[in-house]
Amino acid sequence: MNGTERSVVISGGGTGIGRAVTARFARQGDRVTILGRRAEVLRAAADMIHGAHPVRTVAVDLSDPADIEARLSELPEQVDVLVNNAGGRGTPAAAGGGLKEVAERWRRDFDNNVLPVVLLTEALLPRLASPGGRVVTVGSIAALRGNGAYGAMKAALQAWNHTLAGQLGPRGATANVVVPGYVAGTDFFGGPATEEELSRRRAQTLVGRVGEPEDVAAAVAFLAAPEAGYITGEFLNGGTLLGR
Ligand SMILES: NC(=O)c1ccc[n+]([C@@H]2O[C@H](COP(=O)([O-])OP(=O)(O)OC[C@H]3O[C@@H](n4cnc5c(N)ncnc54)[C@H](OP(=O)(O)O)[C@@H]3O)[C@@H](O)[C@H]2O)c1
Repeated sequence: MNGTERSVVISGGGTGIGRAVTARFARQGDRVTILGRRAEVLRAAADMIHGAHPVRTVAVDLSDPADIEARLSELPEQVDVLVNNAGGRGTPAAAGGGLKEVAERWRRDFDNNVLPVVLLTEALLPRLASPGGRVVTVGSIAALRGNGAYGAMKAALQAWNHTLAGQLGPRGATANVVVPGYVAGTDFFGGPATEEELSRRRAQTLVGRVGEPEDVAAAVAFLAAPEAGYITGEFLNGGTLLGR
């Protein structure tokens, strides 16, 4: 690697916000590795992103410790930037059922949103550049405004990030969370929003428009920049009102 390019690992880099983050780092000349469960989705994203280096792909279920361990040899030996973007929408709290179903929903949200971040970070901590390493996690406004188990899991990530920042500080590395509001054009909601939904979402913003994946990519790039070494243990809210 030359003096300025970095090794960047992005979870969920094949779709939505993660794909925009991937394109941003690839365009600036970094060596990017993207992770996700679906190999074909990762390959399609890698093929459409053109940077100085080909985007590498590793298919892995990040909620499964054994799968991560099995794939470790395919991940870069040095990681300058880790972007924990993988996550998934929870089941609505009003989904019904008895306590068994409630417990299943909460466990699923934990598996989808907490484990992929914590397990991948733990696995790559020994490889994180010291000094200079950057961990940027994609949380959600739901951590601050509520949204059932999903919001609770994203709030857990903010508490976890604070501890991580304390661990990384003496190594000259940082850990921060980007907290987007609604972001259009991703697979998160399983399909495009109606005009009515978009206008409701727009009304909840401070900036009069909904977010785009590139908005989140810009925030991630800022926190991952070499110049951002004094910012750590923070979260960055994207454009959305904190209250209802
Ligand atoms: N869109 C929004 O309005 C919004 C708002 C706030 C926060 N966020 C957060 O932004 C992040 C990205 O979401 P998005 O909106 O871009 O939705 P998305 O297009 O559905 O992206 C989620 C990505 O995570 C990957 N992923 C999920 N679980 C995984 C696992 N266990 N192992 C490996 N990869 C996994 C998915 O790939 P595979 O399915 O192939 O594994 C997918 O590429 C999420 O953390 C989400 O909570 C989104």
